[in-house]
Amino acid sequence: MRLNIAMDGPVGAGKSSIADAVARRLGILHLDTGAMYRALGLKALREGLDPGNEKDIVALCGRLDLQVRMGENGQKTLLDGEDVSSLIRTPEVSMAASTVSRYAAVRKRMVALQQELAAGQDMILDGRDICTTVLPDAPLKIYLTASAEERARRRWLEMKEKNSPETLEEVLRQVRERDEQDMNRPVEPLRQAEDAVLLDSTELTFDQVVDRIVGMAEAIRNGH
Ligand code: DC
Repeated sequence: MRLNIAMDGPVGAGKSSIADAVARRLGILHLDTGAMYRALGLKALREGLDPGNEKDIVALCGRLDLQVRMGENGQKTLLDGEDVSSLIRTPEVSMAASTVSRYAAVRKRMVALQQELAAGQDMILDGRDICTTVLPDAPLKIYLTASAEERARRRWLEMKEKNSPETLEEVLRQVRERDEQDMNRPVEPLRQAEDAVLLDSTELTFDQVVDRIVGMAEAIRNGH
């Protein structure tokens, strides 16, 4: 059976690093779909466009030169041929990505691209609408979450390592702001698919979460 794993969850739940580790253990690829919305957000900021202006952003998305290369050493996101994998990780780009992802025409293009990338290969995809829209027939669907406080704490620790000056309170405020926007947008808001397995990682270690997902995936691979 084709092994596609769909994983959704709110900001800071650890989806991307968990998905990376799961992909390595299973020997499959990982597509971080958030990076695609981030690339569009970065392009908007670079062109001086307001991410809140739907008309401008939809037009920009129509002429977006975006490539995603997945490999053993992680994903490279190319914008106009430039590797922007690190540049898309700033708080400004995070918020811009969340804003541009509200538009139906943007989502339609990104979802089509993601479905094209996932067709024909075993892969784990993480995002906000993977279980509900991108791969509703995936044999394994996971909703990974943790409390807002814990997600903010993890993100803050990560940012501190990169010498980012944000306080824990600021990071918690950003997490809540993005949750609010991602969960309440009119088009494909973040929600747990009815048939997705809920994994709350608040009390679990990174390795415990990875082990659980790998265990479920192996059971599917072995036909159980
Ligand atoms: O997963 P992330 O934080 O890198 O995603 C950045 C933003 O992109 C997120 O706030 C909402 C949006 N997004 C989305 O709407 N659908 C996805 N499948 C992935 C991300």
